[in-house]
Amino acid sequence: MVHGTLGELQGGEIVMKTQESIEKVVQIQHPLEPLTAEEISKAVSILKEQKNLSNSVRFAQVVLQEPLKETVLSYQEGDFIAREAFVILLDNKTEQTYEAAVSITEEKIILWDHIPGVQPGFMLDEFEECEQVVKNNPEYQEALLKRGVTDPDLVMIDPWSAGYFDIEEDEGKRVARALAWVRKSSNDNGYAYPLTGLIAVVDLNKMEVMRIEDYAVKPLPPLDGNYTPETSDSIELRKDLKPLEIVQSEGPSFEVDGHHIRWQKWDFRFSFTPREGLVLHTVGYKDKGKIRPILYRASLAEMVVPYGEASDMHNRQNAFDAGEYGMGQLANSLTLGCDCLGEIRYFDATMTDSKGNIKTIPNAICLHEEDYGIAWKHTDWRTEEVEVRRSRRLVISFFATVANYDYGFFWSFYQDGTMEMEVKLTGMLNTGALDEGEKSKYGTMVAPQLNAPFHQHFFNFRLDTNLDGINNSVVEINTVPETKGPHNPYNNAFHIETKTLKKELEAQRSMDLASQRTWKIVNPNSLNAVGQPVGYKIMPGENCFPFAYDDSSLIKRAEFIKNHLHVTKFDREELYASGKYPNQHKGGDGLTKYAQANRNIENEDIVVWYTMGHHHITRTEDWPVMPTAYINFQLKPVGFFDRNPALDLPRPTPKTCHSKIESLCKH
Ligand code: CU
Repeated sequence: MVHGTLGELQGGEIVMKTQESIEKVVQIQHPLEPLTAEEISKAVSILKEQKNLSNSVRFAQVVLQEPLKETVLSYQEGDFIAREAFVILLDNKTEQTYEAAVSITEEKIILWDHIPGVQPGFMLDEFEECEQVVKNNPEYQEALLKRGVTDPDLVMIDPWSAGYFDIEEDEGKRVARALAWVRKSSNDNGYAYPLTGLIAVVDLNKMEVMRIEDYAVKPLPPLDGNYTPETSDSIELRKDLKPLEIVQSEGPSFEVDGHHIRWQKWDFRFSFTPREGLVLHTVGYKDKGKIRPILYRASLAEMVVPYGEASDMHNRQNAFDAGEYGMGQLANSLTLGCDCLGEIRYFDATMTDSKGNIKTIPNAICLHEEDYGIAWKHTDWRTEEVEVRRSRRLVISFFATVANYDYGFFWSFYQDGTMEMEVKLTGMLNTGALDEGEKSKYGTMVAPQLNAPFHQHFFNFRLDTNLDGINNSVVEINTVPETKGPHNPYNNAFHIETKTLKKELEAQRSMDLASQRTWKIVNPNSLNAVGQPVGYKIMPGENCFPFAYDDSSLIKRAEFIKNHLHVTKFDREELYASGKYPNQHKGGDGLTKYAQANRNIENEDIVVWYTMGHHHITRTEDWPVMPTAYINFQLKPVGFFDRNPALDLPRPTPKTCHSKIESLCKH
C-alpha cells in the first residue's frame, strides 16, 4: 500500500499524493468497480476522524456501497461516479454494532445507524485472539492436563459460532464456542486427535473465557491423520504420472479491463466481498448485435453446515460459513500450476482487518479457460462427413478455508450460453473421539476411535435476474403423464404443465423427481423467434432436504434450507438468505422475513434464490483428507436464443499424433 494522503477526489478519479509527492491517478471506470485499497483507507479514516472512534471499535466489513440499479444500468462511460463505502462496526467496549455509509467522493459520513441486538460475523483477528485467550486460561490448562496435554502450544482452537440455544448467560454477549484438537508435533494433523468433551465458551467483546464446558474425558485416537509424504511413512508417492501441460501459445481468449471481463460472447463484471466472496455483476451474452442482459448480480447468499449428532459435544454445531465466518475473508492465495492450470489471470482481494488496516489476499481469484470436451457433433452416416466442435469454458473461482473444511466456488461460462456454479468441497472432516469399543449412531468411524459426525452442507445462491430487462417471472414446470383413454392409445404420452409463480409465499418450492420439476426464469415481455417468452432454466444438480425438525434452532435460523427455490421481489437491502446478522440470531430473518410481505413477483424486478445441499454421510475414504466432492447447478438458456448459439464455433484443426510412443499412434 502506498503511504501518503489522498488529495483531490472528484468523480471517479482519485488523485493520490504519495510521500514523494508523486501523483498517481486511479481511474474508476465503472460504478461497480470494487473499492480500491486507497478508497477503503479513506473511508476508514473519515469514520475514525469524524466519529472520533476509539481503539475498541472493530471494522467488521468495509465494502463498496453499490449504487442503485438504475444508476448502474443507465451508466454511460464518462458519467460522474459517486463512490461510497458501506461499513459495519463493532465497539467491543460498548458491545454495540453500527452501520455506516461514507461518501468517499464528498469525504463525509452519510449514514450512521446503531443496530441493536445483533452480532456481526467473526473477524479474523478475533480467531487468533480467541485461540490465545483460551490457551492462557488456567482452568482450561487444567482441563488439558486431565487429558494428558501438557503443552498448550500444540492445541488447536477452532472458534465455532454459538448459534442460538436460549442460554441465559450468553444473552446479549458476543460468544464463540471453542472446540479443540491437539497435535503431537507442530506439523501434525491435529484433527486426528479431538479433545472431545471440552468446549471453552468465550466472550469475544471482553476477549475472555466465560466458562468451560467439560462433558467427558475421551482417550485420543491411536492413529495419526497425516497426509503428506513428509509427515506420513505410509504414503509412497505414485511414480507413473507423466506431465500434462496446458499450452495456450497465443495467450488466453479473454479480455480484462479492471473488473470487467469479456470472453467470446460473454460480458460480465465481478467483485469480491469479505462475506460473499466472488460476486458476479451485469452478466450478459452478445446476440443479435447487442449484449443481452441475463443476471444483474449473482452471489453466495448463505451457507449452512448442520451437524446431525445428538451428543452434548456436537449437538450445537451449525456453521453459517458465509454470514458467521465470511467466506471471502477466508479466501486462499492461489498458486499457479497447483490450484490452476494454463494461462491464468489472478486478481487480489482487498479488504480490511478488524482495525481497519488494508488486508490484501494476493491471487485470491483465478480466471482461466478450460477445454470441456465436445460442444456438439454429428456424423452423417451416409456421407461419413463429421462435424465436431470443441467446447471451452471460462472459469472464475476462489477457494476458502473455514477451519477444517475447504470450499472452492467456481463460476463457469459456456459457449452455448449456459452458466454454472460448482462448489468443490474438500479438506478435513470435523471429528470426535470414541472410547474403545464405542460406536456412534450419528457418524462414521473413519479411523480407530475417530468419529466423523454426519452433516450436510447447504449453499444458497442469490440470482438477481435481468433476462432482457429487469421485469421477469418464474415459471414452474412439472411433467405429467397423459390421462388414459382413446386420446392416448398406448399410454405413453406425457406433457408439461406450467404455472407462473405470482406471489412470494407461493414461490417457496422444492424439487420433485416424480414430475421432473424445473423452474424457468422468463421475460414475458421479450419473445423468441417462435413466440415464446425468452427464458433460462435452473438445472439442479445434487440436492437434499434437511433432517432437523421445524422447531429446531437450525430451522428457525435457516428456514430457507427447507426449500430449493425462493423468489422474492427485488430489494437492494435483501441480500442474505438467513438475514444480514445471522450470528447468534434467534431466527426468522432472511428469506423467511423477506417473503412475509408476499409481494407480487410476476413480471416484476425479481430475485431468484436457489438452495443446494450436499448430504454428507461420512466415509473412511474422506479421511485423513477428503477427496473433492462436487455439487453444482446450471443456468441453461431455454428459449432465450432462437437456435443453438454455438453454431459459430470454428472447426478444430485435426492434429497428427504427437505421441513419442509409436504404438499409441497406430489404429
Ligand atoms: Cu461434509
